[in-house]
Amino acid sequence: MNDPLPIEVRGSAKQPLGMTPAQFLRDYWQKHPLLIRNAFPGFQPPLQPDDLGGLACEDGALSRLIVHDDKRDRWSVKSGPLDEADFARTPESNWTLLVQDVDKWDADVAQLLEHFRFLPSWRVDDVMVSYAEPGGGVGAHVDQYDVFLLQGLGQRHWAISTDPDAPKDFRPDIELKQLAHFEPTHEWLLEPGDMLYLPPGVPHDGVAFGGPCMTFSIGMRAPSRAELTGDLADYLAERLDESQRYTDPDLAPARAAGEIDAAALARLRTALPFASALDEDGLRDWFGRFITRYRNAQTPAPPARPMTLPVLRKRLAEGAALLRHPWSRLAWSRGRRGAVLFANGLAYPAPVELARRLCAERTLAFEDVPGDDGSALLLALVNDGHLVPRKGRR
Ligand code: SIN
Ligand code: CO
Repeated sequence: MNDPLPIEVRGSAKQPLGMTPAQFLRDYWQKHPLLIRNAFPGFQPPLQPDDLGGLACEDGALSRLIVHDDKRDRWSVKSGPLDEADFARTPESNWTLLVQDVDKWDADVAQLLEHFRFLPSWRVDDVMVSYAEPGGGVGAHVDQYDVFLLQGLGQRHWAISTDPDAPKDFRPDIELKQLAHFEPTHEWLLEPGDMLYLPPGVPHDGVAFGGPCMTFSIGMRAPSRAELTGDLADYLAERLDESQRYTDPDLAPARAAGEIDAAALARLRTALPFASALDEDGLRDWFGRFITRYRNAQTPAPPARPMTLPVLRKRLAEGAALLRHPWSRLAWSRGRRGAVLFANGLAYPAPVELARRLCAERTLAFEDVPGDDGSALLLALVNDGHLVPRKGRR
């Protein structure tokens, strides 16, 4: 049997990762945390705490001063640019200063990145530098990106959790996105030159220990699939000729006004290779919203006072009609259960027959007041301004 992968190794001047980059990438990168003792033997920080404080006061530098009130477990965050008075107000301990993108401001800090040339340079985001007094840190959290946490000055106590089921819910301190629960599985005290590698999503908490502490975080960047998709869509859209339109030379007579039918969805799938990312419900939902807000010069405004369900039902029972607002653009589609009605970019669950009628008739009157689902839909449409009640004649 193979030995389990060690979580702790020793580095050397020749091998800051304690192994070859190829081994590190194969076994740890994006997969497992790794503590490398002595990754940078005799490490001397490329900038001093005072330089970092000065940088935090510059316009355009991204800095945060975080103070932890230990007794009440309250956190305060001040974003930069900071000034001398901010530092004068800091307590004896339990605070930290973090500055992002220090490599862009300081060539010596940028030199650190030379040690990470085994990674594509476009994958590297920045070197963030933190200075902390004892007890200072940002609290337990997870990052979305890989990070190498290089201890630069003093000692830092690191606690991490490798439990794949560790809860990831946040405390209500929205600004810091701290974890509500954190049970470490591993703890270490890092000395200058030691380095902790964390893949994305590993809960961690670093606290300055004993005296002043500086940590250099070499952070990666990884666009979300949502960002990639949005940008690719823009890129493609810019290159597509305006003369290429939605086409339907195979159109059969419409069975029901406003219905987005299976043939329309199939045409979209052919025209948009992108659409393969969406299942049938997703494609229908996107297209229904899109086509009902596409090129609308105006959209109905909600009434000044929303109506209640009992009032609407009473008025319908009295024979009131519902007029479709002229700027209301409707479409509907059959779903797995019932239908979805689309109105100016919004989607409403709907009974099939009512969705069909809403698209087919500009003025709706009811012999019988619709049931719960139907009445709820009509109320939503009235309160969003798509249907306007008119006095009944009965
Ligand atoms: C730090 O406080 O220097 C590290 C921040 C982090 O855990 O990402
Ligand atoms: Co972090």
